[in-house]
Amino acid sequence: MTALIRRTARAHATIIAWRIGLMLLVPLALFPVQHAAAAGDAAHGAQVYKTCAICHSIDRNGAGPKHAGVFGRTAGSVPDYRYSVALQKSGIVWNDATLDKWLADPQALVPGTKMFFNLDSAQDRADVIEYLKEQGGNTPQPTP
Ligand code: HEC
Repeated sequence: MTALIRRTARAHATIIAWRIGLMLLVPLALFPVQHAAAAGDAAHGAQVYKTCAICHSIDRNGAGPKHAGVFGRTAGSVPDYRYSVALQKSGIVWNDATLDKWLADPQALVPGTKMFFNLDSAQDRADVIEYLKEQGGNTPQPTP
C-alpha cells in the first residue's frame, strides 16, 4: 500500500516537473520570435521621430542637423550645420549599429557631443532608424 502511494507521489512529481519545465521552455521558445519581430517599423518610427523633432527636421537644420540622407553618411557632414568638434572628429558612419548606440546614449558614444537626448526603448530606436533609412538614405547632399 505504501509502495503504491509512493509510486503515485513519484508520478505526480514527474508531472509537476514536466509542467515547470514547460513553463520555463515556452517563454524561451517564444522569445526569439518576439526578438525577430523587433526589426524596425518605419510607420511607428515616424511617431517616435516626433520626439526628435523638438531639435531636428528632415530637410532643415534646427537645434540639431537636418536628417535627409543621414543613414549611410559620415557623422558631422551636413555642410551648413555647426557641429560639436567631438562629433565632427568622430569618423562615425551612420548605420544600424552606430545609430542604435548613438540614440541609446550619445554622450557615451561621442563624449563631448552637444546632443543631449537618450531613447531608452530598443524597439523605438530600431523603428526610428528604419524611418531615417527612408529619408533619402545615401543620396548626395545638395550643395548649399
Ligand atoms: C534636445 C535636442 C535634440 C533631440 C531631442 C534630438 N537630437 Fe539629435 N542632435 C542634436 C544635436 C544638437 C546634434 C548635433 C550634435 C553635435 O554636433 O555634437 C544632433 C545630432 C544627431 C545626429 C547626427 C547627425 C549628423 O549629421 O551626423 C543624429 C543621427 C541624430 N541627432 C538623431 C536624433 C534622433 C533620431 C533623435 C530622436 C530620437 C534625436 N536626434 C533627438 C539634438 C537633439
